[in-house]
Amino acid sequence: MKAVILVGGQGSRLRPITYHIPKALVPLRNQPFMGYMVEFLRRGGLDGAVLSLGYLPDPIQAYFADRKDLDGFSLDYAVEDRPLGTAGGLKNAEPYLDRGDGPLVVVNGDVLTGLDLGELLEAHRESGAQATITLTSVEDPTAYGLVEVDSEMQVHRFLEKPAYDEVTTNLVNAGIYVLEPEVLEMIPADQEVSIEREIFPELQARGTLRAHVSSAYWRDVGTPRSYLMASHDVLSGAVGTEPGFEYLQIDASTKVGKGVKLLPPLSIAPDCVFEEGATVGGRSSLGRGCRIGRGATVEGSVVLDGAEIEPGAVVRGSVIGPEVRVGQDAIVRGLSVLGAEAVIGEGNVLDQGLRVNPGVVLQPRSLNF
Ligand code: GDD
Ligand code: MG
Repeated sequence: MKAVILVGGQGSRLRPITYHIPKALVPLRNQPFMGYMVEFLRRGGLDGAVLSLGYLPDPIQAYFADRKDLDGFSLDYAVEDRPLGTAGGLKNAEPYLDRGDGPLVVVNGDVLTGLDLGELLEAHRESGAQATITLTSVEDPTAYGLVEVDSEMQVHRFLEKPAYDEVTTNLVNAGIYVLEPEVLEMIPADQEVSIEREIFPELQARGTLRAHVSSAYWRDVGTPRSYLMASHDVLSGAVGTEPGFEYLQIDASTKVGKGVKLLPPLSIAPDCVFEEGATVGGRSSLGRGCRIGRGATVEGSVVLDGAEIEPGAVVRGSVIGPEVRVGQDAIVRGLSVLGAEAVIGEGNVLDQGLRVNPGVVLQPRSLNF
């Protein structure tokens, strides 16, 4: 059985990181997100996937081309030349699917989950529905597809991105589906079509859309807040899917100065340098070749490859893009997101979800949020 992974979106809510790195490849504990997705599908017993690509397809294909450990898990790529939406992207993957294979798993390529795919497949087989969608509960359903079900798990309403006054339940679409092949016939080819706004409401009206509620770990990594939370969860083992979990990932290439404090859970990629008295607080992840200066502090953050945090600077709960330089005594906190190669001059203070575009240079002490 195969899956279609929808990974063609622009990741606009995760900009400026996604200007260079597609959302599908943002690292969690120094492993690109797609690594978790493929593990999830393999755990569920699937033997291959078609990636439905659009935005930045090349790095995603290059990532898989480099992986030599997929033993028999087949991968195909369907690349669209313009965004076709979630159903259009699925339709575009159809030539790589074999109708005789029976039902098909479809996943949004940005959900991190400990869900047991086998249970979902079982629920689908038992109900005989044309489509079974996984539901999870969230605090605020307005950023998701709200789903009303009855006690038999029959879907009565699917409402994508409800307004606050339309919220009637906290059960939402988790972006993991099992579809019978005939659902593909409902999708017109070469057109932009949304599975959530067009196909699911139609299946619901036909009475053939079922739901399977899951209480397993689940998170959509598509915003800075949820990406950071997912990173924290993966670092602390909260997703619950990794055997032999280690709280401190570090290797012999790391250079650690006098009085440096490294507080797990931490993931440190090769070739990082920690200068005297630096502190790297728990739930941080540092990419390859980062430098943390004398007395600097990094806490609860994702720092991507080659970033430099200069002496005395503080980075808390933020995402630092590749090759960024955070100047001496600067403070970056409160879910700030810095694009690749940005330079934060000495003494600046960045807070409240501030986003700095790639390559932007902030003069010393020019910002104090
Ligand atoms: N191929 C292709 N083409 N893929 C796309 C396109 C497209 O035009 N647009 C989006 N995708 C992919 C994205 O890359 C992502 O992996 C997935 O489809 C879902 O798109 P998002 O943009 O992340 O949607 P969302 O998070 O706002 O909402 C969706 O996910 C929620 C759960 O996380 C919906 O399915 C909601 O109903 C759901 O609750
Ligand atoms: Mg999403």
